[in-house]
Amino acid sequence: MYRSRITGLGYYVPEQVVTNADLTRHMDTSDEWIQERTGIQERRYGKRHEETPSTMAAEASKIAIERAGIDKNEIDLIVFATLSSDYYFPGGGVLLQRELGISESGCPALDVRNQCSGFVYGLSVADQFIKTGMYKTILLVGSEMHSMGLDFSTRGRAVTVIFGDGAGAAVLQRSEDDARGILTTKLHADGRFAEELAMINPGSHGGYFDEDKEKFGYEEAEYGDTFITQKMLDDGLLFPYMHGQLVFKTAVRKFPEVIHEALKEVGASAKEIKMLVPHQANLRISQFVQKLLRLEDKQIWNNIQKYGNTTAASIPIALTEAWEAGEIEDGDLVCLAAFGSGFTWGSALIRW
Ligand code: COA
Repeated sequence: MYRSRITGLGYYVPEQVVTNADLTRHMDTSDEWIQERTGIQERRYGKRHEETPSTMAAEASKIAIERAGIDKNEIDLIVFATLSSDYYFPGGGVLLQRELGISESGCPALDVRNQCSGFVYGLSVADQFIKTGMYKTILLVGSEMHSMGLDFSTRGRAVTVIFGDGAGAAVLQRSEDDARGILTTKLHADGRFAEELAMINPGSHGGYFDEDKEKFGYEEAEYGDTFITQKMLDDGLLFPYMHGQLVFKTAVRKFPEVIHEALKEVGASAKEIKMLVPHQANLRISQFVQKLLRLEDKQIWNNIQKYGNTTAASIPIALTEAWEAGEIEDGDLVCLAAFGSGFTWGSALIRW
């Protein structure tokens, strides 16, 4: 079996900064409430028609490709993680391939739909392909354009204030040094909680998600009803739903659990982690996890204050920032961990 290594990292965030104060112009919220509950001070929103998940992914990828020192045509596989794809179908992977100008290479493009855990799931998939020798060079990207799909009225405030746009990318390559690279990845899911953090509409469920009825009740849909009905638009049902407290409680349990699971497998302790890069769900969740793992401040990277929660993009953006800051060096033990919609969660341990 081969080992895979991250040889290049990059990120891209849109220029437009949206502060908490900016949001108060649309909804009844406050900087104080948002900062106290989530730690978020501002986030970025992409430019309509100019920036999309695939264009942002391409910007992040170009940096990662350059840093890896590879020719873009060497990419054997693209793995694209997003919940906010440019199109309902096809997925963003083929659009990214086109955007990068490597379509003629015919490299496959795989889309990963595991929301906040998307990057860790994608990393695990990429790692398996490299380990078995099937591919040598894989481009893995997480990219999100949340600002297109949020409810900016007061009704949507608990969800809307949390999310932001951005992209992060990593080039993974077969490692020549067996001691370095991805040591393990651990993935989990519990579909019983699928609707607790979800965007139900539009979808092929054939029913009608109605928030005003008993939770997730369905109204009869008629043949000829499409993904999007006038009633969905009228009732504002085309937005994400989140059971915030359940997400919080479950996340603070699952993060440490899945990190310990990975540590146990490689025979390391939390103390040995040089840098934990958690999915930037909420600063309070990260602080809780840090405390439970007894990590020092310098052992964890948080940047949700600047970007909000960028779902599949949050780990590669944070990982790139930590690396750029010189906080991740050769030989360091790096831990990635995520939790989110599905519920899905996972971790990865990397010897840098
Ligand atoms: N601004 C001001 N008030 C808000 C608000 C906002 N943006 N959002 C919700 N509120 C209000 C609610 O309406 C409620 O008011 P009420 O008491 O008058 O009914 C009050 O604040 C408390 O709401 P609640 O939903 O109980 O808040 P909370 O303490 O659970 O905090 C979250 C909400 C979303 C911040 C919190 O649940 C959380 O962080 N959950 C995890 C979310 C997360 O990490 N998601 C990403 C997962 S990958």
